[in-house]
Amino acid sequence: MRGIILAGGSGTRLYPLTKVMSKQLLPVYDKPMIYYPLSTLMLAGIQDILLISTPEDLPRFRELLGDGGQFGIRLSYAEQPKPEGIAQAFLIGEDFIGGEPCALILGDNIFYGGWFSSNLQEAITSAESGYATIFGCYVRDPERFGVMELNSEYQVLSVEEKPEKPKSHYAVTGLYFYDGRVCELAKQLQPSSRGELEITGLNQLYLREGRLKAQVLGRGFAWMDAGTVASLMEAAVFVETVQNRQGVVVSAPEEIAYYAGWIDKAKLLESAALYGKSPYGEHLCRVAEDRFLR
Ligand code: G1P
Repeated sequence: MRGIILAGGSGTRLYPLTKVMSKQLLPVYDKPMIYYPLSTLMLAGIQDILLISTPEDLPRFRELLGDGGQFGIRLSYAEQPKPEGIAQAFLIGEDFIGGEPCALILGDNIFYGGWFSSNLQEAITSAESGYATIFGCYVRDPERFGVMELNSEYQVLSVEEKPEKPKSHYAVTGLYFYDGRVCELAKQLQPSSRGELEITGLNQLYLREGRLKAQVLGRGFAWMDAGTVASLMEAAVFVETVQNRQGVVVSAPEEIAYYAGWIDKAKLLESAALYGKSPYGEHLCRVAEDRFLR
């Protein structure tokens, strides 16, 4: 299973914050935004990850995340010269994917909730047997997102991109799992009226084949896209609230790697030392001392 994080885009909805800084490197409370989608892919057990970003921003991501060795994963990088749609990730990433099933996550999507690992495992099993999976989340304002229409058995009836009259309140989140044919299917897409290879178009191809599954992330699950000033702030406050109340750290890749057995205690402590006296570094030290329930 491969994983792609798409961290491109011009981030104009966050100007001037993103005038000289990639959106996905902005802080979400105590860590850069990119840590959250990276953690999600790692939680799914994915160790081969490609990060796609703009030519200007890619060096900063490399500086921050390196080759992924500190997280027990293999990270590679590729450029998206122009933002020509989310599904373009599968044209850019074709060699990296090499015909394997592949997950894609948008660099500004934050997921937090119990049982998430089992949702992810189910999506992987489906991808390995020829299906795509999208995740639905009930939202107040579905017209801002891709929207899925479901029947009473949670089968997908339709998916539409930012419809004026949404057929449901279930937004399609920015996390997608596909089978090994994803690059071939992505090549069939034509640019939409806004000139982009739409991820919704790719999902419609799977739907037409009867191979699009949906999982609904129910009440009690938090999904946030930190793409606007308001949602960035909300995400930060959410992370602060959970962390300070529970004494945990939301989305610490080193912690996930340690519990998965991808890095040992020495490596964890090495990372902790690099984070210095920050609360994040101190948390990693506590994890190394095994002071948490897994
Ligand atoms: C993109 C997708 C949309 C999805 C959303 C999730 O929209 O096109 O289908 O619901 O991500 O974050 P964007 O945020 O790029 O407008």
